[in-house]
Amino acid sequence: MPTAIPIVERSPVAMQRMADAWRMAGKRIAFVPTMGGLHEGHTTLMRNARHNADVLVASVFVNPTQFGKGEDFERYPRMLDRDVQRAGEAGVDLVFAPDAGAMYPAGYGTYVDVEGITTVLEGAARPGHFRGVATVVTKLLNIVKPHVVYFGQKDAQQVAVIMRMMNDLNIDITLVVVPTVREPDGLAMSSRNIYLTEQQRSESPVLYRALQLGERRLRQGKVHAADATKEMRALIATSSSGVIEYISIADAGSLQELHGPVVDRPVLISLAVRFGTTRLIDNILIPLAHS
Ligand code: PAF
Repeated sequence: MPTAIPIVERSPVAMQRMADAWRMAGKRIAFVPTMGGLHEGHTTLMRNARHNADVLVASVFVNPTQFGKGEDFERYPRMLDRDVQRAGEAGVDLVFAPDAGAMYPAGYGTYVDVEGITTVLEGAARPGHFRGVATVVTKLLNIVKPHVVYFGQKDAQQVAVIMRMMNDLNIDITLVVVPTVREPDGLAMSSRNIYLTEQQRSESPVLYRALQLGERRLRQGKVHAADATKEMRALIATSSSGVIEYISIADAGSLQELHGPVVDRPVLISLAVRFGTTRLIDNILIPLAHS
């Protein structure tokens, strides 16, 4: 069957009116926010969402407020036609693709700041990042008006921040988290993988191997988090040119670092590593260290 090409809507107000009409007609709206550069990680979210919706909306918007100075805002992949085609193949009915000027018009002055969990890990490495994410996600939810929204586990801290924000601000939308999609060699799918040189790409699966090593150590029990991270660090350092920004073993709820033997709580093992100018992140969530 030929794939239907989704409608592309650029105007926030027109998008809102469309969402109102769907809601009036009793339609269930599912939403997948993205910054484009769609890969199988995104299309997996879309395919999951398709089963849970009458209408499926995806957004493609490279959000300037979540990039810091010197980050890759300018070179972030922009390929709307290809993204619309891919979204259609994954069952999306409408792609919302606003301009930055429509989202942040002259005089714009309102931001959403989530406290606490935004100051560690990605938040520590990228000051202001989660303020931009929380702000744009709030705006997108108000524009698309979904019943259910989908995010990937790949951005674990982003998920934690958005959950906190939705809870704190009484945003009455169901949030679904979908497991990370990986290349056959273990590299987590990311729009940034296309920046990797051949050499860096061949080294990059070590990130997932390091996470798995950390998981094995924790599941064995009696291993201090600090020793597990030391082993992970050594593995990455000896088998790649990657420069480690952080390796973290933290309480999955608070994202506070764990130092002793981890026995009794859900744990997030996460890392950020630079290959040249490309910064990759990845994580494993262990529901219970000994389960
Ligand atoms: O995960 C992303 O792609 C972005 O952070 C999001 C959620 C679309 C907000 O710009």
